[in-house]
Amino acid sequence: MNQEAIERAVAHYRELLLSQVQRAESMKNAATPEKKEKIVIGLIGGDGIGPIITCQAKRALEAILKDEITKGTVELKDIQGLTLENRMACGKAVPDDVLNEIKSCDVLLKGPTTTPSGGTMESANVTLRRELDLFANVRPVSVPEEGIDWTFFRENTEGEYTLGSKGIEIPELLTMDFKVTTVAGTQRIARAAFEFARNTGKTHLSIVTKSNIMKKTDGMFSVICHEMAKEYPEITVEEYYIDIMTANLINPAIRKKFQVFLLPNLYGDILTDEAAQLQGGVGTAGSANQGDRYAMFEAIHGSAPRMIAEGLGDYANPESILRATVMLLNHIAMPDKAEKLQKAIEAAAALCPVTGTKEGHTCQEYGDMLLKYL
Ligand code: IPM
Ligand code: MG
Repeated sequence: MNQEAIERAVAHYRELLLSQVQRAESMKNAATPEKKEKIVIGLIGGDGIGPIITCQAKRALEAILKDEITKGTVELKDIQGLTLENRMACGKAVPDDVLNEIKSCDVLLKGPTTTPSGGTMESANVTLRRELDLFANVRPVSVPEEGIDWTFFRENTEGEYTLGSKGIEIPELLTMDFKVTTVAGTQRIARAAFEFARNTGKTHLSIVTKSNIMKKTDGMFSVICHEMAKEYPEITVEEYYIDIMTANLINPAIRKKFQVFLLPNLYGDILTDEAAQLQGGVGTAGSANQGDRYAMFEAIHGSAPRMIAEGLGDYANPESILRATVMLLNHIAMPDKAEKLQKAIEAAAALCPVTGTKEGHTCQEYGDMLLKYL
């Protein structure tokens, strides 16, 4: 019985390895992005509180890009069908027709999508990051009064995520998941982080791994990042293990010195939630998923099914997706509009705080206030 399961697992593993070798090979020939006459921004509502918060971001974009939309240099495109119901009905994390629609856009603004736990259904986020090859997850966190100004460069297509729903099981006995790190995948995220540091005048970069334990994957990640650091002599580079870094982030005596973080996928996932909490909660942080061809901007939090179940959906805070919208505007080279939106967010948050409870304002009220500043 076990023998059969082992044979099956070995065959499965062989297939996984071949697919990853192919992916690593194909990454060597990255496409150069083409210049576009018109930018198509796809809007994806998602599940749970997703459509509620995304609706306010859409209103903001319509207001702020009014002239460009009229001139036809920007198009806002609603993408339907990335809902849990439709995904379950199609048996696909991202149904084919939805993926085609998404690929017809240039940049995307996406509300959170629910991932069923267990089973084999992959997270829609993970699928999209892979399908659109969005290798850099960039997450800024700032708390000026604490001297915190951090930007996280989280590798976004590899690590524990790439084969996260393709693990092995010997029933009643054991399960195994896989972590994958490629040379090209590490080089491109490291390059993005170092270039960002250089272009923004940052002088400190922290590599975060657990290379003392994950010797092959994190070990190689660490070596490649240190190797690249030699090309950026003006930047001080330190490596920390993920465990002590989680402690350092809540240590006011140390955390001020951090500026740019460069880290593999799962550590980036965890550390950025912690960082966002220091800024005021995961509801306040935006996230950019960037590749060479596409970029997708989203809230860093989930779809909050609990809020929906408790009838609090209308009280969801749209700040995170709006901050993602600021990043989107910067990405499409509209820094003035980005700044305008950022200021409007700060004003609306002060005048119309949304707390996620009935004591706070509704998402719609916040959106109304925001529009007054746009
Ligand atoms: C994030 C989220 C996602 C992740 C989930 C929704 C798959 O937590 O963007 O940080 O784990 O990457
Ligand atoms: Mg996360």
